Amino acid sequence: MFRTTNSSISRILSFASTLSVGLLLAAVFGCDDDSVSVASSGIPSASATQFQVQTGRNLVIGFGCGDCHNGGKQDPTDPNWLSGYRAGIPGQPFQIGPFQTYPANLTPHATAGLGGHTDRQIYNALKFGLDPEDTADVTITSTTPGSGNFPATPHYLAPPMPWIAYRHLTDDQIWSIVAYLKHGIKAVDNTVPSSGGPGDFWASSYVDSAVGPKTIPTYPASNEVFSP
Ligand code: HEC
Repeated sequence: MFRTTNSSISRILSFASTLSVGLLLAAVFGCDDDSVSVASSGIPSASATQFQVQTGRNLVIGFGCGDCHNGGKQDPTDPNWLSGYRAGIPGQPFQIGPFQTYPANLTPHATAGLGGHTDRQIYNALKFGLDPEDTADVTITSTTPGSGNFPATPHYLAPPMPWIAYRHLTDDQIWSIVAYLKHGIKAVDNTVPSSGGPGDFWASSYVDSAVGPKTIPTYPASNEVFSP
């Protein structure tokens, strides 16, 4: 299930930055949808635009969210598109040590999906790994638990949800994914069981020494070299 390897992620990131350039160009040259005025502010300060939704769609499909959240298929014609774990999907639930974890329903369904959470709570899930179920709808300005609205005892999303990689996307890209999930797909009623987890809500699994730095250094870092 782990198709988001480092190399596929970097391919997707370069694809994603191409999309960002597109967004910038759209902002500079104007285009006939209504995305221009909110190109960088995004939701929730303004309503979602078609442009954000389509950018988010490319990222969701390109990142293979459906690997886990749609039974292994990237297919927006699927009537169950992105509605999460169902009994019988091979390899699911995930067995992480003694715990079973279940890919969530990402559709905007009011009770079974993301509909009960704000756009910002979904942003905080992708940017900081904070479980929208247990994390307030606040702007977070720090990565240190207890400061800048970062919860003192964070409830992180269970592995193998790869938020550790997604947090390095740009804000525009993350908001576009949120726009697609919350404002671009149909609600599907599929209640997914809660994931199990350790008492520290995975905090000891997500330390920098295990998952890499919170901020990626500028290029070239010590093990990178540009050789055109
Ligand atoms: C390798 C498997 C995997 C992939 C790929 C994956 N996820 Fe997840 N995701 C999970 C699991 C498992 C959970 C449940 C975590 C938990 O219960 O704590 C989850 C939870 C979430 C949640 C929290 C939902 C909630 O209601 O708590 C969001 C939002 C989310 N994923 C978005 C995404 C997006 C967007 C992508 C693609 C860009 C993605 N995921 C790709 C496995 C995955």
